[in-house]
Parts: sequence; C-alpha cells; structure tokens
Amino acid sequence: MKGVIFNAVEEAVVSLYNEETWDDLLDAAKLDGHYTSLGSYDDADLAALVGAACPMTGHEPNDLVRVLGRHAFPHLASRYPELVDQAEGTHDFLRRVNDIIHPEVLKLHPDAKPPAFEFEDREDNVLRITYKSARKLGILAEGLIIGAGDRFNEEVTVTIVSGLGEEVTVFDVRAVKLATST
Ligand code: HEM
Repeated sequence: MKGVIFNAVEEAVVSLYNEETWDDLLDAAKLDGHYTSLGSYDDADLAALVGAACPMTGHEPNDLVRVLGRHAFPHLASRYPELVDQAEGTHDFLRRVNDIIHPEVLKLHPDAKPPAFEFEDREDNVLRITYKSARKLGILAEGLIIGAGDRFNEEVTVTIVSGLGEEVTVFDVRAVKLATST
C-alpha cells in the first residue's frame, strides 16, 4: 500500500488523539513508522496498526477503520484541491475519484492497486457503489465516503447492501445537503 495512505491514517490518529498515541501505536505494532508518501509498504502494517489500536481505543476493528477512513479523507483530498472544488457534492466527487484520482495514482505509481468502483443511480439522492479490490477494505472506503460527506456539508448515510469484508462490497450512499447556517 502506498505511503500516502499511511500518512493519511497518521493524520487521522493525530487529529482524533495526538502524536503520542500514534507513537504508542507504532510501538505496539512493532513498526518504525517512517512512511514516505511515495514509498510502498506491506499491507500487513495497516492490519498491525489496526490490531494494536483496537485494544488501545476500545473500538471494534470495523468501527475503527471506518473512523480512521473518515478522518483520513481531508489529508487525501488536500492532494487534489481543484477536483474537490469542482465537485458538486459527495456523489459527484466519488465518481471523480474513480474516473480521475485513482487512475492518476496508477499512472504515477504503476505498482499501486487502488480499488475500482461501479456506480448506479438509485432513488433520489442515493448512489449505489460497488467496491472491488483484492484488499477487502470496503470498510475503509465507507469511512472515506463519510469523510467526503463532511467535506461537502452533506449528511451521508451508507447502507451495506452486500459483501462487507469481501472483495466486492456494495453500498447505498444517501447524500443530502445540510442547510448552511446564516
Ligand atoms: C481524495 C483523494 C484520494 C486520493 C488521493 C486517493 C489515493 C489513493 C491511494 C494512493 C491509494 C493506495 C493504492 C495502493 O497503494 O495500491 C488508495 C487506496 C484506496 N482508496 Fe483512494 N484516494 C482518494 C479518495 C478515495 C475515496 C473518496 C475513497 C472512497 C470511496 C477511496 C477508497 C480507497 C480505498 C478503500 C483504498 C484502499 C485500497 C483498496 O481497497 O484496494 N479513495 N487511494
């Protein structure tokens, strides 16, 4: 997995807890934590961090990965500010991740394996997203989707239709603009 994902997870841990917690996690997971954004690291490191963080935070693994994904979103999004600004909302942005951002990642890093998404419009405000990846990290995708909702000031509700923890996970993502206070 590319280092940028580990950097985003570090930012999430620091924003939710603090630097010391990140250092404690690295110690508990027996990792040195020198993740450069362009480097590639073992996926097992991510699993080790999650394994160490569950007893420390009291979260179940899925809840923890979802929360980390949500709070990792701003770090990833900060790499593509113009695409974020151009997007009309969460659904539109998620299509751009699949059509532009992840293909761009692949062009820059041929060793990367970002997930593939398929989209299907459902009823009003609901987009069905099919996540496909051998990494089985649909729960991370769910957290990132919720993080995108925060960015676009939308109330996002993700319903798992099928396949959580599998190579193909189907979500229904309802996104409703929140009223802005004046
Ligand atoms: C906002 C800008 C984003 C950037 C710059 C970005 C970039 C990346 C990169 C570099 C990877 C690592 C791929 C690898 O090392 O093989 C990755 C993986 C991933 N991305 Fe994105 N991403 C972004 C947004 C999103 C969003 C919004 C979602 C949620 C739908 C998402 C879902 C995932 C997931 C779940 C993975 C883990 C790998 C996997 O499941 O196969 N990403 N992304």
